Amino acid sequence: MRPLHILPSILSSDFSRLGEEVHAIVAAGADELHLDVMDGHFVPNISFGPDIIKSIRGVTDVPFDVHLMISPVDPYLDAFAKAGADAIHVHAEAGPHLHRSLQHIRGLGLKAGVALNPATPVEAIRYVLDHVDAVLVMSVNPGFGGQKFIPSALEKIRAIKALIEDRPIDIEVDGGVDASNAGAVAAAGGTRLVAGSAVFRDGPTGYKKNIDAIRHAALSARGELI
Ligand code: DX5
Ligand code: ZN
Repeated sequence: MRPLHILPSILSSDFSRLGEEVHAIVAAGADELHLDVMDGHFVPNISFGPDIIKSIRGVTDVPFDVHLMISPVDPYLDAFAKAGADAIHVHAEAGPHLHRSLQHIRGLGLKAGVALNPATPVEAIRYVLDHVDAVLVMSVNPGFGGQKFIPSALEKIRAIKALIEDRPIDIEVDGGVDASNAGAVAAAGGTRLVAGSAVFRDGPTGYKKNIDAIRHAALSARGELI
């Protein structure tokens, strides 16, 4: 089984104290940081770009998992690599040249991921499987934190797991993940769990408890807790 990682999304953090937030969430047990980039065009919201990512790169050593909700995406890949991304996810719906974008990301020496909106069929990734390290299943419509988990994502995770067979590909799940559904997500095959509001909602004193609760639910569903 691929390792289970919990990736807090800093979209739900307090941006007025971003450096401290990054420090606190890593100290609380984040395996990686999930960074949600939105352009107000591909999704109906604007968040942050490479300069902000660069500004927190020095705060921690944990991998930066960059989720690009932007279109076009290709002109910006180099800038996000330079800013310190370790993995970049592009949306299958964001442009006509997904294969080229994935090759470009790997060519930059980074892990490449494909994100799928809730309505996008699994079939969209069939012919790029040899070029991806992760499939990012959106379990909400991208654009905002704090939305409710869409249950059909579980069926999609199972279908992706069957499609990837024994390839070394992670299934990352993003949107509305919390301790109440993390077990079902992990049982379906999700190995990388993104969580924003469920982790950040109580302020810094709650971060460790919130990450632990998600991890505990997921690990016990995988049969990895004694
Ligand atoms: C949604 C983003 C998610 C989001 C997760 O567009 O891709 O990463 O911030 O936040 P929660 O866990 O609150 O749904
Ligand atoms: Zn995301």
